[in-house]
Amino acid sequence: MLNDLWYKNAIIYCLSVGTFMDANGDGIGDFAGLMRRLDYLQGLGITAIWLMPIQPSPGRDNGYDVSDYYNVDPKYGTLGDFAEFTHACAERGLRVIIDLVVNHTSDQHPWFKEARSDPDSKYRDWYVWADKKPPDATHGVAFPGVQKSTWSFDKRARRWYFHRFYDFQPDLNTSNPHVQAELLKIMGFWIQLGVSGFRMDAVPFVIATKGPKVREPVEQYEMLRSFREFLQWREGDAIILAEANVLPDTDLEYFGEEGERLPMMFNFQLNQNTFYTLATGDTKPLKHALLATKPRPPSAQWGVFLRNHDELDLGRLTPEQRAAVFAAFGPEPGMQLYQRGIRRRLAPMLAGDRRHLELAYSLMLSLPGTPVFRYGDEIGMGDDLRRPERACARTPMQWSTEPQGGFTKHTRPPVSVISGGPYGFERVNVATQRRDPNSLLNWMERMIRMRKEVPEISWGDFEVLRTSRSDVLALCYHWRNNSVLFLHNFAAKACTVKFRSGCNEPVGCPLINLLSDDHSQPGDDGRHAVVLEPYGYRWYRVGGLDYLLTRSEI
Ligand code: NOJ
Ligand code: CA
Repeated sequence: MLNDLWYKNAIIYCLSVGTFMDANGDGIGDFAGLMRRLDYLQGLGITAIWLMPIQPSPGRDNGYDVSDYYNVDPKYGTLGDFAEFTHACAERGLRVIIDLVVNHTSDQHPWFKEARSDPDSKYRDWYVWADKKPPDATHGVAFPGVQKSTWSFDKRARRWYFHRFYDFQPDLNTSNPHVQAELLKIMGFWIQLGVSGFRMDAVPFVIATKGPKVREPVEQYEMLRSFREFLQWREGDAIILAEANVLPDTDLEYFGEEGERLPMMFNFQLNQNTFYTLATGDTKPLKHALLATKPRPPSAQWGVFLRNHDELDLGRLTPEQRAAVFAAFGPEPGMQLYQRGIRRRLAPMLAGDRRHLELAYSLMLSLPGTPVFRYGDEIGMGDDLRRPERACARTPMQWSTEPQGGFTKHTRPPVSVISGGPYGFERVNVATQRRDPNSLLNWMERMIRMRKEVPEISWGDFEVLRTSRSDVLALCYHWRNNSVLFLHNFAAKACTVKFRSGCNEPVGCPLINLLSDDHSQPGDDGRHAVVLEPYGYRWYRVGGLDYLLTRSEI
């Protein structure tokens, strides 16, 4: 039973093949290199790898501009290498999900080339056209400040085409049944090659109505059911993890009331409010986001993350809240992006403060959902703000103190490894941290291990406990007569927090610390009083039983 819904208690690790490990020395990461690092990933304890786009692409949006859905970009290897890779992952019990980018294609995709040059082509209707420039052509751009419009004129077709993202990414007409059938075929192809599912790009736009007459796009939610049904007919445990930055009142439309639509979505609501709380110490909006995103069918799961490959999107916060996060974590204009976000990696945002970083990752690992790491998080990698837009946080993995951080033998790879300063490969790399028992890497490995042994987070019901302090979050999960309790102090000051443990005993229950010997007994009034260090955190099992004993009953 427990293993049936593997994604519920998974640890996902996102990486791009091109920046992870280069085996043949051409300066670009490849599948052969990634395969050499699978034992590292397995040792870290992650259970699933999410590969960013791997398909052939002109590479103008980091591969999110696909020009062939049925192949691997030759710079990464061949389809044969890919099949070897999924096999090597399966050998180690690692699942693989890949990016599925079907809201749009590259303008270099043969479908678009044919569609624009031949009005009678069957592909003409695979895209979204207008005879005249639509009046709202400048509305709804995804990248404000960089992207000018959502409609562009195509000289070949002598028509306007719709593109939600950059102008080299024409939107597919996803209402067209032929496009829908092709989309399923793409999923079927990769499933056959051994993937366990997809991180689906831009889902609200995939399912939205599109066209020159569409003023307010309408989401066609039933499309999601057809994706899921198809996937599960082909491979029972395959999943879709949706990128959908939506408001909580539509969450159930995406999951489906009975879980009949998408099994997983990233929790953007929680993400933005987590950063607000990290910036200010005020836990109220975070508690609110937790409760607002609580309703979901039992089979559904949130993907919980801190930073991803894009900017930290703060668009759903109030202007005052957003200003507070900018002031704390991205005060300079060059650190901000698209008028709504911060483009830095987490470690520099938190000024490399180990206590603050541990707090943030401890929280991520204990929030309701499946944690999603970004490569390099585990060693606290930084960013290169000289690189444009989001590219600043997409630099190669730092493996060692060798030239180019051991990522490649090439002396001048197209994307250089970060060198010099507090985040350069000379100081931040896997090899050095592996030898240091107190490194962030070894801390992360221990935390991941413990997270996997606390399935209550994934499966249980949670309550936000009342405490004596507004800067401390106390979360308690209950599942199968077990309870676990987490404390996080968001303030840079030590404090004593008082609370009831959330068990049913009027006299309270002891709290057994899962990470150290520092347990807590309730006082005479049944309340606990725990002293937390600045940015301190605690993981407890409620009730005094040895946690391994309790687990064996499950
Ligand atoms: C969302 C992806 O995360 C982002 O990187 C990309 O630019 C857009 N979708 C367009 O595909
Ligand atoms: Ca290579």
